[in-house]
Amino acid sequence: MADTLTVIDNRSGKKIELPIEHGAIHAVELGKLGIVSYDPALLNTAACRSKVSYIDGDRGILRYRGYPIEELAEKSTFLETAYLIVKGELPTTSHFRMWQHNIKMHTMVHENLKQFIEGFRYDAHPMGILIGTVGALSTFYPEAKNVMDLESRRVQTRRLIGKIPTIAAFAYRHSRGLPYVYPDNELSYTGNFLSMLWRMTELKYRPDPVLERALDVLFILHADHEQNCSTTTMRTIGSSLADPYASVAGAAAALGGPRHGSANEEVVHMLHEIGSTDRIPALIKQAKSGERRLMGFGHRVYKNYDPRAKIIKQIAHQVFEVTGKNPLIDIAVELERIALEDDYFVSRKLYPNVDFYSGIIYEAMGLPVSMFPVLFAIARTAGWMAQWAELVTDEEQKITRPKQLYVGYDERSYVPLDQRREGGALETEVSGPL
Ligand code: CMC
Repeated sequence: MADTLTVIDNRSGKKIELPIEHGAIHAVELGKLGIVSYDPALLNTAACRSKVSYIDGDRGILRYRGYPIEELAEKSTFLETAYLIVKGELPTTSHFRMWQHNIKMHTMVHENLKQFIEGFRYDAHPMGILIGTVGALSTFYPEAKNVMDLESRRVQTRRLIGKIPTIAAFAYRHSRGLPYVYPDNELSYTGNFLSMLWRMTELKYRPDPVLERALDVLFILHADHEQNCSTTTMRTIGSSLADPYASVAGAAAALGGPRHGSANEEVVHMLHEIGSTDRIPALIKQAKSGERRLMGFGHRVYKNYDPRAKIIKQIAHQVFEVTGKNPLIDIAVELERIALEDDYFVSRKLYPNVDFYSGIIYEAMGLPVSMFPVLFAIARTAGWMAQWAELVTDEEQKITRPKQLYVGYDERSYVPLDQRREGGALETEVSGPL
């Protein structure tokens, strides 16, 4: 049997045969029939070839560069996983030492950047600070615009992975009115981040090893997730050959939305609002009537339990041994139990996703909800940079420029302002989306 798809345009009888490769046809071939493929929200469109992460949504599988997420979460560290994601292979000992050195060399930020952060209002959302400050980095490193230069790409990647925890921690300290803490490169990547968040008057901050490891695993779980909304944004901005700081700022802005990386924030608000397990059925009712969504549930790709959520649920109990139990966990577990027995959620294959349990852990660690998407952004920076490098070196790629189906007016003539009829077409238009 041929690996082809035959398409017949019944309007004209014209027939074309499209090769099928990796289970896909080239949508551009449909142009031979004068047809475009219409796919709002890109539900069934592959926009690139990628080697970074693999998801089988029906079986609940996630792998980075072929390695199962469960194995990486158990055996790897975030910095090693970041190397794997960025470079494509696990490092040897000497390469890993060099990578650690190269990242740590970039943990400091220019003092002007610190002043830039100080310019934000005292109550600015840390995600807004992160987005703005990462965007500002491109003014500090103008050579980053040389996106086709391998050495430049490498340096910007190390800089971004090195500096993002510093910017994130400064954003947190700013929102608390606390002095910023400079990086301590004797600590691990995650230990240093905790030090920059929480060091007070002590000369050296010593992170709790359980919390340090838990956060490191959470970073591993969030490091990449193929062509999600923020990664697609990263690639879209990157396709214009904008520098990677502009692209990461845009990707982080996409991540900050409540249907994406801010869902963890919304989950914790929702669980607080529920308050006790006897109020769960009322929330489930609202979710089923379409009045609201059950935050932390459902996924565009996973139609099974999100493998990351399984791991996070286990980590929660390790964290609680140090921090004390976050009472929200009981509400979350019961909510999950009730939802997974309900036909509404079962028939739509809505399972807990990565955001369902992560916020409960962050809250137990003492982090405010506004920091949750920021933590997501720290980890995802590794994935964004790997995907961006793949994009700019992919000869098949061009500037992203989708088509549209124009459904507006045909040509019409301009009517001078004083001749427009009150109550006419213009007023009908005013009730449109803006
Ligand atoms: N609660 C209640 N109903 C839901 C939910 C939910 N969380 N998610 C989807 N549905 C329903 C939806 O109403 C629709 O029902 P119907 O077929 O009757 O119209 C059906 O399930 C399919 O939903 P959809 O909106 O077409 O699905 P999608 O693939 O476009 O959306 C999603 C995926 C993650 C945006 C969505 O499930 C959602 O809004 N979840 C809550 C927000 C959330 O937890 N986001 C974090 C995603 S994981 C981390 C990340 O990658 O950012």
